[in-house]
Amino acid sequence: MRTVLKKIRNKRVKSGSKPQTKVFICTCKNEIILPNELDFGEETTIIEDINSKDTIEKIKKAALNSRVILAGPSPRIMEKHFPEGNIEFVNIREHVSWVGHKPDKIISLISGAIAKQKNSENIEAKKIPIKNKSALVIGGGIAGLESARHIAKAGIKVFLIEKEPFLGGVVGKLDRLYPEGTPNSHTLYPLINEVLGNENIKIYTNSEIEQIEGGLGDYKIIIKTKGNIIEGKNLRKCEEACPISVDDDGIERKAFYYMPTYPDSYCIDFSSCTKCGECVKICPEISLEEKTVSLNVGAIVVATGLKDYDASLIKEYGYGKYDNVLTKLQFERKFSSGLIKPESVVIINCAGQRDQNYLPYCSRVCCMIGLKEAKLIKDVSPQTEVYVNYIDMRSYGSFEELYNTVREQYGVRFIQGRPSEIIKDDDKLLVRSEDILLGKNIEIKTDYVVLMTGFVPDTGLLDKLGIPTENGFPTEYVNSSRSVDSNPKSVFIAGAAAYPKGVSETITDAREAAQGVTELLIQEHAVFKTPTAIINSDICGEIDCRICLSACPYGAVYLKDEKVSVNPELCMGCGICTATCAAGANQLIGCEDRGMLSQITNTVEEGDILAFLCKWSSYNAADKTGYEGLSYPENVKIIRIPCTGRVDAQMILKAYSSGAKSVLIAGCPPDACHYFTGNFKARKRVIALRELIEQFGINPKSLRIEWIGKEESKRFVDVVNELNNK
Ligand code: FES
Repeated sequence: MRTVLKKIRNKRVKSGSKPQTKVFICTCKNEIILPNELDFGEETTIIEDINSKDTIEKIKKAALNSRVILAGPSPRIMEKHFPEGNIEFVNIREHVSWVGHKPDKIISLISGAIAKQKNSENIEAKKIPIKNKSALVIGGGIAGLESARHIAKAGIKVFLIEKEPFLGGVVGKLDRLYPEGTPNSHTLYPLINEVLGNENIKIYTNSEIEQIEGGLGDYKIIIKTKGNIIEGKNLRKCEEACPISVDDDGIERKAFYYMPTYPDSYCIDFSSCTKCGECVKICPEISLEEKTVSLNVGAIVVATGLKDYDASLIKEYGYGKYDNVLTKLQFERKFSSGLIKPESVVIINCAGQRDQNYLPYCSRVCCMIGLKEAKLIKDVSPQTEVYVNYIDMRSYGSFEELYNTVREQYGVRFIQGRPSEIIKDDDKLLVRSEDILLGKNIEIKTDYVVLMTGFVPDTGLLDKLGIPTENGFPTEYVNSSRSVDSNPKSVFIAGAAAYPKGVSETITDAREAAQGVTELLIQEHAVFKTPTAIINSDICGEIDCRICLSACPYGAVYLKDEKVSVNPELCMGCGICTATCAAGANQLIGCEDRGMLSQITNTVEEGDILAFLCKWSSYNAADKTGYEGLSYPENVKIIRIPCTGRVDAQMILKAYSSGAKSVLIAGCPPDACHYFTGNFKARKRVIALRELIEQFGINPKSLRIEWIGKEESKRFVDVVNELNNK
């Protein structure tokens, strides 16, 4: 249907030095009844269908040199047409028409939006040039290799850095992949060969990151590298001459040694090497010196993987005290290479995990690794008795089948209960535990105990990159709150560096990271539309409280030359830091104090309930009320906010001084705030503010903060009804 455009011109209000404001009001094909008089003092255009291509183009054109207000359906729907982010949306369908409110309410909502926009800066898209088209992949395990392979296949130069002497990571030391149990040579060897065969990949083993400077599109990296591939004759003799013996997770070797991954040559384990020079005497080509290399890249993949939790910290299981208590890695290496032939083995799952004394979290794949080890033992040595002590068997997805197979077909015995004690019994071990299912204490005499210790991240690198962490893992991944606007926008986390995961998940993840890098680096500029906070250094310097530094969940607010600054690449536009700045020095573009206060003043009428609703949760709940046949009082006015953490004291006080009888701040449920902790910060602020408003004679119960999820439209209605009846 052809869109009908009808113009209402009114010259009552001039827009001053600011660009002109243009108001577009959509009737959603006459679904929305407009008030008889629309008089905003701005050029106002009525449209029928916001989805019409012509209309969208017309509004986009208007937005090029005017400020645009667009009233119609929920911004959730309209935003897709206008990703540039410089249009102020007003929801008059879901929040007026669908809930059966009188059309006149539209006037105050649009007036509020106009006032806000006149007092806000435009959200300009950030355009960052991609100066360096190369990528850095840190970590030469499965995740790093797979990422490097995919990025290089797209024609992009990759620098692959591995701190160990060889490629392959932890998986390279194992016989079987975890948790699936496939021999690692099926996956790792061809992967390494592909990486080696790609001219776009430059590998630095025995190398670590020394310094990282710069940001998206333009990183300057300094690496420290110690002797790469060793060329020369008589290398076996060098190995024999090396006086340093190393216990490499269960296998004895020299500091000068060989491993059949890459390089397919001897190399030096510099973490053990004493630089005695015995090898150099035999092979003078060997260099024991380290050098630095500078690299310029545009994007980074962190694929630093995992390492085992230090089993010697767990007191109960005798690790380090008894030689036959081993970690999973040590056991597999010894068993697979035929160094040990046990008649019985007790595998202890959750060895330290989910225990506040050791590792508070679940390492996610260890239960399956326990199953894999049990199956490996039975495959090689069917007569060996295998027991698995477990708390809960977390065999997700198809691993349940592996659990059933190992239990029913392989005859592995499962004991639900944590062992209480392990003691020496001649040359064997005695494992005492409770079998919860049988309801009795049991003792098992065994040759070996294998600890399924948890995993810890193998990096301090995330701090260098300014990525906030929780238990060493990136907070954003731990909380599963990654979204299309996740950050940093040029650092991609691949594989188990994000959180413990198995090999197939790691490979999928690595491909995703590679895709992110490729999409970024093929552009001349990266364009981001997320609003960011900015700091007025003059005002900030006078107060110098620095509170916003710790408020930012992303580490985007930082000190530069003793001045508080914001890294736009890390800023996610939540406004949590802005709300902590009592001086008004910290402002979120498009959601500044002045704009918000003007919106509140022009929206609120005497006796209203002003609801600040988080765009990720409660705003969507309010959107659904009319659709579900519910409604709420006419005097409820809704302002959409990026996070409840943005709502500061002056916004709340302004609502009351503008005539509101109640104020509701509603956001994401606990642990579901899109910005991690904005909701908790908002709650603390509201609790403190209640005391203050009581002193002003305002009923503290009229100020409420609620967690309202996106589906909880009924609860939203109940809450505002309660507030209205106070
Ligand atoms: Fe919803 Fe923080 S994002 S409350």
